[in-house]
Amino acid sequence: MLNPIFFNMPKIIIALDFSDKKSAMKLIDLLNPSIFYLKIGKEMFTILGYKFIKELHQLGFSIFLDLKFHDIPNTVFNATKAAADLGVWMLSVHAAGGKKMLISAKKALKNFKKAPLLIAITALTSLKEEDLQDIGIKSSLTEYILKLSKLSNDCGLDGIVCPGKEAKKIKFLFGHQYKIITPGIRSSKDLLYDQNNIITPREAKESKIDYIVLGRSITMSKNPIKKLDLIIKSMQ
Ligand code: C5P
Repeated sequence: MLNPIFFNMPKIIIALDFSDKKSAMKLIDLLNPSIFYLKIGKEMFTILGYKFIKELHQLGFSIFLDLKFHDIPNTVFNATKAAADLGVWMLSVHAAGGKKMLISAKKALKNFKKAPLLIAITALTSLKEEDLQDIGIKSSLTEYILKLSKLSNDCGLDGIVCPGKEAKKIKFLFGHQYKIITPGIRSSKDLLYDQNNIITPREAKESKIDYIVLGRSITMSKNPIKKLDLIIKSMQ
């Protein structure tokens, strides 16, 4: 299999969204930890807890702990510190938690020798413009994403999770060091599921996205390695 690291492609994070360990391990056993990153979200973390992260570290994987913290600054400070103590490579908070919360998360990582990358969720890739209006946000989806990207950048975060469509603009505004992580990646034949803002792997490469998150297109695939190979080839 081609290694995205050597081909100037977005690197690949696999979203381990499974309801049991056996299914997760079946996929993990097929993956090379020097090529793929793993994302542990709310489901797997709630079922298997921090011990699972330790196990995956022992297998050599870098872990994105995607618990999307969104709470008062003190709680997020403590939760971020606890996540960093686990030695994860990346972790997420919601930019919508506001300036004080984002600064607290950043402060929590101050004394770590090798702090995780601190990433803010801008808008979920499942959201449509009308969903924003439902929660009282009057800006367009793009304006909202740009606003939260700026806020997260101002607060010293390492990057953001955002839909692919806005990625080019964000790179232009905030520079290449500011990491972009994009879920909602779909090849033309893939099912949309609940995602609304999707792009293809090729578009992700063209937008200079740093990391793509692949979930159900891999976890629901009968042949995940073949599927990953096709995705990587499509980005060449
Ligand atoms: O299955 P699919 O490819 O849609 O996977 C999407 C993954 O990315 C899920 O784990 C979801 O929690 C995550 N995610 C997202 N949108 C965001 C942030 C994370 O879909 N803005």
